[in-house]
Amino acid sequence: MKEIRVGIAGLGRLGKVHAENLAFHIPGVRLTAACSIVSEELSFARDRLGAESVFSDYDEMLSKAELDAVVIVTSSPLHCEELKKALECGKHVFTEKPLGVNVEECKEAEKAVEAHPDRIFFLGFMRRFDPSYLYAKKKISEGAIGRPYLVKATGIDPESAVEGAIRFAPTSGGLYIDMASHDIDLMRWFLGSEAREVYALGANFKHPEFPEAGDVETGCALYQFRNGAIGMLHVGRTAAHGYHIETEIVGTEGSIRISPMPAKNLALLYDKRGVVTECVEGFPERFREAYRNEMQEFIRCVRSGEQPEVSVYDGTRATELSFATTKSFREKRPVTL
Ligand SMILES: NC(=O)c1ccc[n+]([C@@H]2O[C@H](COP(=O)([O-])OP(=O)(O)OC[C@H]3O[C@@H](n4cnc5c(N)ncnc54)[C@H](O)[C@@H]3O)[C@@H](O)[C@H]2O)c1
Repeated sequence: MKEIRVGIAGLGRLGKVHAENLAFHIPGVRLTAACSIVSEELSFARDRLGAESVFSDYDEMLSKAELDAVVIVTSSPLHCEELKKALECGKHVFTEKPLGVNVEECKEAEKAVEAHPDRIFFLGFMRRFDPSYLYAKKKISEGAIGRPYLVKATGIDPESAVEGAIRFAPTSGGLYIDMASHDIDLMRWFLGSEAREVYALGANFKHPEFPEAGDVETGCALYQFRNGAIGMLHVGRTAAHGYHIETEIVGTEGSIRISPMPAKNLALLYDKRGVVTECVEGFPERFREAYRNEMQEFIRCVRSGEQPEVSVYDGTRATELSFATTKSFREKRPVTL
């Protein structure tokens, strides 16, 4: 089996997860090169992950390293430019969400992907590879809950990670783009329809740094889909108990709830506080399997030449809708798509 040579750009909170998967957990892959503007991250890639060459400049990595594929996990505003360059250099591309931080960028990404149909383009909507979400999708396709008409989605980062979220805020694209894109993608996936209207609200009660950075701490939104279904979103940065990702899909004949209690595991601790269930601490822990599964699927696509189910257009739709949500929040009115 020919080894697939991969270069990774970005070795931050999530980049390290992808890099470790590529270095140690995906058969037939070699983490050949790594790129970051943080020198400790480059030492980590060289010394701990065995990357053969490391770069502080993305263009240099593309021109100097011998790569079949590039994995992009840099700050969100860099994704579009970097994916275009990688495709133009003949590489297969995996890029993290969001596809772009505005719709114009996404349209440019679409053109670049369309111009290179023989290159694999994979967008990191990893919840589609999480066993619980896959199970829910299968059950819905089998008719287990009748016709799905409502998705309620909650995504709240832990208060313990709020300092990182504050630092990340100026380059995140804003709360609705950063936090809501997975939920928006899942709503479209589960409901099989596109949203036509959104109304969003936001609130700041704990950390003035978010509004100071032009962002918001907590966001809620209601979506009306073209087929009549509804989406309800609650995203934020201040969950006291841990990383709270919860999704409920309601149908005409039943409903499915995914992690209504975002528990770390099945254990209950009985002590002087009562009966305690610890919560998952963050995305690397909650979606460990999903990140590994999606990377495995990317490599399978590279080998087989088969394009993945999730497309560049899904990325554009998610950004369009996240943007409309931000606009509705800022302009304090419903926005029609
Ligand atoms: N799918 C998910 O669940 C999920 C979770 C977290 C983050 N993300 C996405 O992953 C991306 C990275 O997020 P993060 O939390 O790891 O961010 P981070 O700030 O921790 O890391 C960013 C990385 O990008 C690198 N970088 C920045 N500018 C660069 C440049 N010009 N050239 C090369 N490298 C550069 C930095 O050195 C760093 O390694 C974001 O787009 C974010 O939206 C997705």
